[in-house]
Amino acid sequence: MTVLVFDSGIGGLSILREARVLMPEHRFIYVGDDAAFPYGDWEEAALIERMSAVFDNLVGRYDPSMIMVACNTASTLILPHLRTRYDMPVVGTVPAIKPAAERTSSGQVSVLATPGTVQRDYTRSLVNEFASQVNVRLIGAEHLAAAAERFMLTGQVDEQLIASEIETCFVDRLGARTDIVVLACTHYPFLSNVFRRLAPWPVDWLNPAEAIARHARTLVEHPGKVSDVQDVAEFTGGTPGRELKRLLSGFGLTVKESPIGR
Ligand code: DGL
Repeated sequence: MTVLVFDSGIGGLSILREARVLMPEHRFIYVGDDAAFPYGDWEEAALIERMSAVFDNLVGRYDPSMIMVACNTASTLILPHLRTRYDMPVVGTVPAIKPAAERTSSGQVSVLATPGTVQRDYTRSLVNEFASQVNVRLIGAEHLAAAAERFMLTGQVDEQLIASEIETCFVDRLGARTDIVVLACTHYPFLSNVFRRLAPWPVDWLNPAEAIARHARTLVEHPGKVSDVQDVAEFTGGTPGRELKRLLSGFGLTVKESPIGR
């Protein structure tokens, strides 16, 4: 069976790597809509229209058994639409506000996301429903997704930029200090060691990837044997450059030309 893992870029690889560990019986197709990256800056109606066309194309070509939307900015907008449109499990990646609210000791939680994700009604309703007793700070970082891509592709880190993007995560209210920062963008786990190094005090950087993969595993049947079909990646921005090809081959993905484009 084929599982389609989708993101605006390469951040969704943080979900893919967990999903493959837990569902080795399946073939994975990774799709990065990098022609439209970053999703965090898009206006909602235009982004829904864009993603709808892209998913129709992908589902038509790959006929997956399950879709994993490995992007918070996309999931907080498109999940109801995909679930109505396609007759298959659609697994989303949404800010892990509920587990953070359950685990915090100080009652101070920050959610590090994209500007799009923090504006969504979906995100606000997660806070109201699951974290009303907790002080939740939502941070829409403007440049972190691109910084994560740069790091993943080249190893380069702009520490000043990253420090200033994460600075507002750290709240100290009369000694009650932030103890959990939710990584609410699938790109950010790749920077978590840098975050740890630059943080003013230690916190739990909550990455939901494994929990999402575990949930996904419950939604499909598993054939007895491990898949021997090659996993594939395609990017709507055209032929990936040398650095991206190297990264993908490190993930064991073969690049396929995407017919989608802009
Ligand atoms: N990886 C995406 C997410 O989880 C965001 C990156 C973007 O802005 O496109 O929200």
